[in-house]
Amino acid sequence: MEIYSDKQQITLAIDGFKAKKLTVGMVPTMGALHEGHLQLVKKALVDNDRVVVSIFVNPTQFDNKDDLLKYPRTLENDVALLNTVSSTKIVVYAPTVEDMYGGNTVSQNFDFDGLEFEMEGKFRHGHFDGVGTIVKRFFDIVKPHKAYFGEKDFQQLAIIKKLVEKYNIPVQIVGCEIHRESNGLAMSSRNTRLSPKYKEAAPFIYKTLKAAKEKFGTKSATKVTEWVNAQFNKHDILELEYFLISDIETLKPLKRKSKTKKYRAFIAVYANDIRLIDNIALN
Ligand code: PAJ
Repeated sequence: MEIYSDKQQITLAIDGFKAKKLTVGMVPTMGALHEGHLQLVKKALVDNDRVVVSIFVNPTQFDNKDDLLKYPRTLENDVALLNTVSSTKIVVYAPTVEDMYGGNTVSQNFDFDGLEFEMEGKFRHGHFDGVGTIVKRFFDIVKPHKAYFGEKDFQQLAIIKKLVEKYNIPVQIVGCEIHRESNGLAMSSRNTRLSPKYKEAAPFIYKTLKAAKEKFGTKSATKVTEWVNAQFNKHDILELEYFLISDIETLKPLKRKSKTKKYRAFIAVYANDIRLIDNIALN
């Protein structure tokens, strides 16, 4: 498998693919790869001749220094996992912070038409400016035909679609379903940091989302939200940060149900110091 950290080298490799008229897919990641990431890679391999997987823990999207420091970094293992999927069609791009930011580790400021102020935007200040900055840089370097993002980070996916639209970036954004453990817990690089006690408790998040979906069929968003809050108030170790039912286009909280609109429930929960997010389509 080809692994590049240098911008010039990856650019040369991409130019080579394009010269051969090969299509290029991209899967941006922060590494600590798991089956959820691999699903994106597998989908990208079906659609494209070559797939660039970037592995880069992007400092500007962390508003919590401790979270950045503790973020798992497992490049060797990540490469081994990718090799099990394809050793010939995947290219890894793992730059350094210096390569990407050149000593100026700050984000560009974006206007994502308000999408950035909802949900995660309220709790993780500057997060989406950081995501927008790095993904735009990756798109500039790799120039993929298609790029794959998980619905696990549904707001991020919406924001990337907005980024591409606003900057006329010639890439097709493909959303991929959330991949879960058999107990329902959404796969996440952060799950490896859960102690056994919290690992056992964490599937409660998806269980509650599924019950909320069921209730949404007959009850108002307010009633469902109150119910979810009550479930977490009763829980001895998981702490709810937010539960919101929102319009999937604007990401604004639902005020009055409309038959023509699609809604999703979004949740963020603290399992000790580890923040877990998840979401579910409601209709
Ligand atoms: P990371 O958290 O590593 O996730 C990389 C991609 O994998 C994202 O598109 C994310 O939504 C997707 N993903 C993670 N867990 C998933 C799961 N259980 N099911 C489906 N997809 C899943 O998201 C980021 O990195 C960063 O913000 C990034 C876009 C790379 C910018 O730094």
